Amino acid sequence: MSALLLKSGRLVTPQRSYTADILVEGETIAEVGENLRAPDAEVIDAAGKLILPGGVDPHVHLDLPMFGTVSSDDHYTGHKAAAFGGTTTVMDFIPTPESGPLRAGIDEWRAKAEKAAIDYSFHMNITRLDAKVEAEIPRLLDEGVPTLKVFMAYNGRLRLPDGDIFRVLQIAREHGMLTLLHAENGDVIDRLTAEALAAGHTEPVWHARTRPAWGAVEAGLRGAALAAQAGAPLYIVHMTAGGEADMLRYARQHGAAVMGETCPQYLCFTEERLARPDGARWVCSPPMRTADDNARLWAALAAGELQVVATDHCPFFFDGTTPIDYEGQPSAIPGKELGAADFTKIPNGLPAVGDRLPVLWSEGVGKGRITESQFVALTSENPARIFGLYPRKGALLPGSDADILLWDPGRTATWGVAHSRQRTDYNLWEGVTLTGLPEKVWLRGRLIVDGEQWLGRRGGGQFLPRRAGAQLL
Ligand code: URP
Ligand code: ZN
Ligand code: ZN
Repeated sequence: MSALLLKSGRLVTPQRSYTADILVEGETIAEVGENLRAPDAEVIDAAGKLILPGGVDPHVHLDLPMFGTVSSDDHYTGHKAAAFGGTTTVMDFIPTPESGPLRAGIDEWRAKAEKAAIDYSFHMNITRLDAKVEAEIPRLLDEGVPTLKVFMAYNGRLRLPDGDIFRVLQIAREHGMLTLLHAENGDVIDRLTAEALAAGHTEPVWHARTRPAWGAVEAGLRGAALAAQAGAPLYIVHMTAGGEADMLRYARQHGAAVMGETCPQYLCFTEERLARPDGARWVCSPPMRTADDNARLWAALAAGELQVVATDHCPFFFDGTTPIDYEGQPSAIPGKELGAADFTKIPNGLPAVGDRLPVLWSEGVGKGRITESQFVALTSENPARIFGLYPRKGALLPGSDADILLWDPGRTATWGVAHSRQRTDYNLWEGVTLTGLPEKVWLRGRLIVDGEQWLGRRGGGQFLPRRAGAQLL
């Protein structure tokens, strides 16, 4: 069995940071302690560097058909980008099959993910509810999929009425499953969108103007109230507004088992980005808000009021008519240009899976907004706990998978497409100087990123079946 000894790094955990050695045997961490000895092990001197658990991103959309195209990272390219950014586990969402059993969706996504380069798991979207789907939800547990996503927006496409969301929550409670919620007000969005188009407003900024923060604030509280009445836990994805964090605090203070996630784009950017000539790059749902919202989300992270920073990685090309080079091959996938004449046709989503850790470290830890321990909790341990993977993932403990980052807090890069490796032609943080980057990344004891070198492989990632009864934080 291969052995690896990381000497004298500073281990960062949600509880404390301390200097220790880590001995990896095969795929798992065998020992953590001082002055470890292993004569046959490969030794890496980690002095002056940090050792972090591999990132866990519970919210990505890979190879997802939408808006007449498909998200431009698949289960290899997105995984590779994640790994370069220090993330070793991702979870992506299976669409509800248009007809037929949910099981068919799982089969389709398992086949897509055969090329996985890091470890992965799935959530199941529930976007139609009938007696058959109700009966099938508990059977998802047999497939290792104990988490469901429901939508209060995207009328006529993904949205469920509140009564159906309540029913999903009841089923979830009965079977120990966790429901994830997209919280926006679909009816208001539909009305405002029709009015904007009728008035001739077609530019990207109208995407944000037709999806007001009030809708997310109100929908988040409505979701929390439904969950409380069903006696079920709820995880609200991609929170954008300070008011959503306020509602989350209110709901938790009143006994609702609700948790919340935000994403780097909602911490760093505002609606003003969408008003630029290249505003389509920033079009995602829900949209970016204001500088005040950015600040209030940072404060909520620092106060421990939000549990996770994920990405909602759902990339598209800005100009999908012009190929980029990807691993030596030209690659172009229709993207944001589809909405050049009408903001409602811009594919919703943006690239971030490879940016999450470097951006959150630089903007968060580096600027004193969160501590390094909070960074590890938000990006690795908390999502591993909430989604039932802890302590296999999200931990630097004997027995944990050896998903390890050698992190250089002093390494600086001018960020952009070249660093993040996402398969698209732009990066939201292009030209921004980031300090604090992964230097080496191990997945289950195997070195997959070494500086700028990719050592991972198609098929090297494993499916992670998860069980009911995830932890509430
Ligand atoms: O714009 C986004 N976020 N696209 C992905 C789908 C979703 O709602 O998470
Ligand atoms: Zn969503
Ligand atoms: Zn999403």
